[in-house]
Amino acid sequence: MSNTLSPVENEISRLQLELTRHNYHYHLLDDPLISDAEYDRKMARLIELEELHTHLSTPDSPTKRVGAPPLDIFVTGAHSIPMLGLDNAFSWEEMTEFHHRIAKIMEMDGDEILYTVEPKLDGVAVEIIYEHGILTRALTRGDGITGEVITENVRTIPSVPLRLQVREKVSLIEDKDSPLQDKDSLIQAHHLPALLEIRGEVILNKKDFEKLNSSRAHRGAPLFANPRNAAAGSLRQLDSRITASRPLSMFAHGMGLAEGLGEGVMETGSYSGMLDIFESYGIPVNPLVKKRVTLDQIMDYYRELEQSRNSLPYEIDGIVVKVDDFSLRNILGTKSRSPRWAIAWKFQALEAVTRVNDITVQVGRTGTLTPVALLEPVVIGGVTVSRATLHNMDEIRRRDVRRGDTVVVIRAGDVIPKVVKVIESARTGSEKPFSMPGTCPVCGSDVHRIEDESALKCINASCSAQLKERIKHFVSKAAFDVDGLGKKLVDQLVERGMIGSFADLFTLEREGLASMERMGKKSAENILNALEKSREVSLKRFIYALGIDHTGESAAQLMSDKFKNLHAVMGASAEEMESIDGIGPKTAGAVHGFFANPENQALISSLLERGVNVISPEGIMDDNLTRDPDMGVEDGQAGGIQGKTFVLTGTLGSFTRTQASEMLRKAGARVTGSVTSKTDYLVAGESGGGKLEKARSLGVPIIDENQFIAMLGGSFSNGV
Ligand code: IVH
Repeated sequence: MSNTLSPVENEISRLQLELTRHNYHYHLLDDPLISDAEYDRKMARLIELEELHTHLSTPDSPTKRVGAPPLDIFVTGAHSIPMLGLDNAFSWEEMTEFHHRIAKIMEMDGDEILYTVEPKLDGVAVEIIYEHGILTRALTRGDGITGEVITENVRTIPSVPLRLQVREKVSLIEDKDSPLQDKDSLIQAHHLPALLEIRGEVILNKKDFEKLNSSRAHRGAPLFANPRNAAAGSLRQLDSRITASRPLSMFAHGMGLAEGLGEGVMETGSYSGMLDIFESYGIPVNPLVKKRVTLDQIMDYYRELEQSRNSLPYEIDGIVVKVDDFSLRNILGTKSRSPRWAIAWKFQALEAVTRVNDITVQVGRTGTLTPVALLEPVVIGGVTVSRATLHNMDEIRRRDVRRGDTVVVIRAGDVIPKVVKVIESARTGSEKPFSMPGTCPVCGSDVHRIEDESALKCINASCSAQLKERIKHFVSKAAFDVDGLGKKLVDQLVERGMIGSFADLFTLEREGLASMERMGKKSAENILNALEKSREVSLKRFIYALGIDHTGESAAQLMSDKFKNLHAVMGASAEEMESIDGIGPKTAGAVHGFFANPENQALISSLLERGVNVISPEGIMDDNLTRDPDMGVEDGQAGGIQGKTFVLTGTLGSFTRTQASEMLRKAGARVTGSVTSKTDYLVAGESGGGKLEKARSLGVPIIDENQFIAMLGGSFSNGV
């Protein structure tokens, strides 16, 4: 009892319990009670004490999570009862057949059979054995009869308890005045099972998998094909310190033998009840488990999970449907390799095997050369895939992809399909290795390798491939969102020299557009309308649309939040950029460099001149407006203005040009950047230049500010 503990024993015991509890709060409840630094400090103290008093360093101490000295080989061990697999269903028909089979065997009404459903995790099965509440042994599934002993490795998985939790114990540590009990008497007093073999799935989150692979790429180490392989590889390390460095997690989905696990759980209990008990012990149970549902609800669950599949942090490849009541399970029994009471209803595979017909090189918006595999078309998850990215030359070398190879291709959600593996056994000897070109395949300019990156870049900023991609990015959904301006049309516009920058989009005219392939007057009109609509753009979208290196949507959002208007973003130093939480030096440098470049400044000026209106986060227009642009102009009501084409030049007295264009557009007019024979009016402020000349020579009516105001007059409710 407590009064027999020495001060050191007391401190060690308290730290062990405290750290165990913090670990539980952090990894299972996702609700840490103390800072990481505080945790580290306590851990360091415990390590120090246990090193001095090794006999007090118990196998369930949280210090055991850092890994143990490496093993020479894995010892194998038998499972006390076989670890079974699952039968698969690939359709609703197969799912219902399973259900009817059970109803028939049980001579029950379909609705009386309740199932517990859960995600089928794409991970590695393990068995973890607790004796009197202490984790003593862990095994891989192996062949189902015997597995490999991986106890040290499993101990490093943060969410796996090293000691089963007794709820009352938590309140004891929280109560500072309460005398600490010694662990053994606590365990006995709270009926922890004498033996509990839990079975579950060890997984690696998608993000952590990407991180792991990119750090391996950096070191030139072979890459893992998917998170499951990475989890398996991490778990089968002879050096458990390596396992400790990989952020694995585990969800329980079954059990082997158990002694003393609540009264009669095996005889009268249910799987859902068992999961509740697991949870009370601090064993991780997947929060997406849905308990005791009928067949109809299984259909809904399947659909929901298939929908949310991509947004889950880990990979799943279907759902597992299990009869909930153990009494029914006992009657149904098992076949040789799988139980009759469970089935995996799989999603459509997102992986396929196909042939690489050729490898080409694509030039991206920032000039990056990307090798692309042209595939023998193959249907993956309902979509025909004929191209897959090979990322860069280093990646091709690592995976050794050659023309003519048979490969595994995956399509994960909306992500571009990628080649993850070459099936070397399918090689015939006629496959041809590939190497990257020394010049840009589009414009022929030199290519450079970027320091610290595997990418090659075309250094010619006016390379037409780059221009096309920049414009596609500019009109894309998250940027200016110009409806109907598809990739093929952008290609044509660039190839015919109709646009040389994205500012030129706003000078496009109906006739020119309508003359493009597969275009008519109507579609040209629609595109012009879409462009018109897109002129009003938030600061975030505007920044994103510029296509600056390392500047995605979230960086653009952060800058918009911080600087509020375009002027401030353009004037910010790299240091100011970097001071934003979430913006790193690469992005800060790229953005600052972009705005410091006079060519880019000119590009932005011409966008604004051509009527692009950047709305700051508070809804105030960008350039220090003194008037509210929404000052009562009723949409499209100004009679003589609607449908007319205006050009603005010079400085106006009462508005900025941006604001004037805004008012004109609200009144149903079109505002363009240059005077042509199609221009209906040129609005001339102070010191207008070349546009005046042009208007005169073409006979375009020129109006001054007062005439302009008079024209708009009827459409203002609070007279200007
Ligand atoms: S239950 C007899 N539940 O799938 C019950 N297994 O194809 C067998 N798996 O070896 C296990 N998620 O590694 C179960 N929620 C889940 C699962 C799951 C993934 C794995 C498990 C099993 C394999 C069978």
